[in-house]
Amino acid sequence: MKEIKAIIQEFMLPKVVEALRAHPEFPGLTVSRVRGFGRSGTEEDLSETPPKCKLEIVVPSTLVDSVVELIRSHAHTGRPGDGKIFVYTVDEVVRIRTGERDQDAL
Ligand SMILES: Nc1ncnc2c1ncn2[C@@H]1O[C@H](COP(=O)(O)OP(=O)(O)OP(=O)(O)O)[C@@H](O)[C@H]1O
Ligand SMILES: [Mg+2]
Repeated sequence: MKEIKAIIQEFMLPKVVEALRAHPEFPGLTVSRVRGFGRSGTEEDLSETPPKCKLEIVVPSTLVDSVVELIRSHAHTGRPGDGKIFVYTVDEVVRIRTGERDQDAL
């Protein structure tokens, strides 16, 4: 299992979420509003940076490539600040309602 963490421009969120919802095996996501900067923004005042959205999505490893590509293609404008996608290994998942674990819990 992997966690995909994507930082995208806030105004791209509806388009990205619509594409993810259309993925037949999409298991769910968490979204929060964040601020930050990348390489091209180290001189900026943090409070004046445009708000970004952080998406956190845990998927079976087999889905990583397709989900990353969906996010990349739907969050892309080609201009600076489009965002970044990070992928991590997830050790355990528990579904609270059923007690299912790991892939069964996704
Ligand atoms: N190395 C990083 N670690 C953690 N968060 C990052 C990192 N790089 C970028 N981010 C987050 O992603 C957001 C978007 O980054 P951004 O797309 O501006 O990266 P960049 O390297 O400056 O690329 P670009 O030149 O396309 O702007 C930042 O506001 C920040 O929240
Ligand atoms: Mg930048």
